[in-house]
Amino acid sequence: MTELVLSQNPAHTRHGSSSGQPLTRLDGPLKVTGRAIYAADQRPEGLLYAVMAVSTIARGRVVSLDVAAARAHPGVVDVMTSEHRPKIFVDPDVHDQPFNFCFQALQDDRVRYAGQPIAVVIAQSLEAATEGAGLLAPRYESETARLTLDDVESFTPPFVGVGHPAMAQKGDVEAGLASAARKIDATYETPMQFHNAMEPHAIVAAFEGRKLTIDTPTQALAFGRARFAEIFGLSPDDVLVRCPFLGGGFGGKGLMSGPIVLGVMAAKLTGRPVKLVAARAQLYGPFGHRSPTRQRLRLGVDAEGRLTALAHHAKIATSTFDAFFEAAADASHTLYASPAIRTSHEAVRLDTGTPMFVRAPGEASGSIALESAIDEMAAAQGMDPLAFRLLNYAEREPISGKPFSSKRLRECFAQGAEAFGWQGRPLAPRQMQDKDGLLVGWGVGVATFPAVMFQGVARAVLHADGSGRIEATGQDMGQGAWTALAQIGADALALPLDKVEFRSGTSKYPDAGMAGGSGHTATAGLAIHNAGGDAIAKLAALATQDPQSPLYGAGNAGVIARDGRLMRRDDEARGESFAVIMARAGVAEIAGEGKGAADPAAQQQYAMHAHGAVFAEVKVDPDLGMVRTTRLVGAFAAGRIINPRLAQSQYFGGMIWGISFALHEEALLDRRTGRVLNADLSEYLIPTNADAPAMQAIMVDERDPHVNALGVKGVGEIGITGTAGAIASAVWHATGVRARKFPIRPEMLM
Ligand code: MOS
Repeated sequence: MTELVLSQNPAHTRHGSSSGQPLTRLDGPLKVTGRAIYAADQRPEGLLYAVMAVSTIARGRVVSLDVAAARAHPGVVDVMTSEHRPKIFVDPDVHDQPFNFCFQALQDDRVRYAGQPIAVVIAQSLEAATEGAGLLAPRYESETARLTLDDVESFTPPFVGVGHPAMAQKGDVEAGLASAARKIDATYETPMQFHNAMEPHAIVAAFEGRKLTIDTPTQALAFGRARFAEIFGLSPDDVLVRCPFLGGGFGGKGLMSGPIVLGVMAAKLTGRPVKLVAARAQLYGPFGHRSPTRQRLRLGVDAEGRLTALAHHAKIATSTFDAFFEAAADASHTLYASPAIRTSHEAVRLDTGTPMFVRAPGEASGSIALESAIDEMAAAQGMDPLAFRLLNYAEREPISGKPFSSKRLRECFAQGAEAFGWQGRPLAPRQMQDKDGLLVGWGVGVATFPAVMFQGVARAVLHADGSGRIEATGQDMGQGAWTALAQIGADALALPLDKVEFRSGTSKYPDAGMAGGSGHTATAGLAIHNAGGDAIAKLAALATQDPQSPLYGAGNAGVIARDGRLMRRDDEARGESFAVIMARAGVAEIAGEGKGAADPAAQQQYAMHAHGAVFAEVKVDPDLGMVRTTRLVGAFAAGRIINPRLAQSQYFGGMIWGISFALHEEALLDRRTGRVLNADLSEYLIPTNADAPAMQAIMVDERDPHVNALGVKGVGEIGITGTAGAIASAVWHATGVRARKFPIRPEMLM
């Protein structure tokens, strides 16, 4: 299977609107029966296997490699090194825009981080390649690695995130703090985190003359195709990237990294198809991670508890060779009204791989610090944390002053609090215990994520037999994109879902934009919506200009489409089916094209964000400091929900990552070698079923007329942002101990 074709699922014979239905995943049966084929499952004729050797030091130079020993090993075909590799057409060290990941392509003998590829052994079998890589016996010249935020001088980054200024402000923060009746000044630390997708990064690359076919898990098929073309000096038309299924992405599969490029280089070097799959331990280095942060929050309030100033400063890390800067402080742009706000960043360059987008980039790290500080201030002020947030509720986006396109955070507070049973929460900590003597605490955190859109196009086709077809690149990393986009497609073509074939998962289809920034449903969905509208308009033009049609003379605006029929708007009894119209006109297909992109005028005028409120209950063992999250209720307002079942699953996934952020995960670097000590899924702690409590995700009804024609904001990332802070606050409420460093460990609470 090299593309995704979903069609004719009889379980989905349903009329009327498909959007809004809580359908199960259309690709679910393929997955549970093993028919879903992932990149590393591909096995083209003549395949060779490539295995990377990666550096065990973090900074220095490779002095020697025993290439002869590896080459002599039975089954080894070639050994690619910085001295023996095909030409590439870009400089891997040039980072000229935020969406170009710098990467290692064996360009020189420098070692810039532990885990950097230093050679690739290519062999007839995976075993031979693995054994060959083990014979390289690298020797290094090693320098002292810089591994923490304190190891090296900092600088102001040229931009943060996808290109925002490193500093933003309004009003006079110092004056606001000086005049405050109460102040807090607190510093929070968050650790390095990795994506930990179940499916490892992998590639199968094959050249046929100048034609390059690539199977690789990617969140951005068309973007990937363009990047491969650029790197290998090809026309994009000569490159086909296929990715019908991904086993998780979380931002780690958004941009093409070095090892993936090495797979193509190995295919070029040998003239044979090559498969390169990163081993689990190799995923902790070249593929991006969440930057560690140290964030200082300074808040001032007047006697009533109204903010007079809010300053959020984030120190973050990047690599020595790239320019990704985690926009952690930007979380304070949107949530709280204050006459003076300043957000700022400083960065250090470390001998690690480059940090990258990780689910809820910026907001995940930033909001745990902001929400913790807000909670500390509410407590200092003797106020209920929810009441404190309502008092400082931003009616407009605080720094820009723009109105929100929609913001139903108040309703999130109300519905979440009601479902959780927040009322009657004691203000002071250590007031609640369960029957087993565990300390019980309740906390709340605000969730926020921008409503992002990329640019995309899609095609929607009506067939003469009354069925339809949608074509768009699309990427489903498990979030349910195939299903939600097919639902939008069925509605766009005014057909029941079982009459619409959905084709996606390869770069040969129209580029519907990347799956990232929680913007895939909005972008690809809007493109599909518009493509369907275009096809229907063409069909309506045929009918309304045909004297034999009951719709003759109605004009395009005078007809509506539903369930495969066009009808007169003023008299729905007068109409005919799509098939009849097309048969009479003698056309086999009517194709519509559509674009999906943000409306710049609306963006100019409005601030667009999804919001939510997460309520957490934790229980803490007073002797052992062990924390369990026992209840989580999130209420989210993210515009229109295309599929409530899948949206719930996205919220739950985000909320579980919030538990992880607050309590579990942290990548630890060996101070001597710079290697990740816990580079596997048993030592890198993430929540299991036993750590995930009963959860509820409430979808607060929100109609947004400005964000896009579908009213969709996106649900993929926001769940983390409220949850981590809510749990930290609940831990304080249970124990009286404020977490200033994450994850919260038992020893901090004893
Ligand atoms: Mo997301 S971190 O933009 O895939």
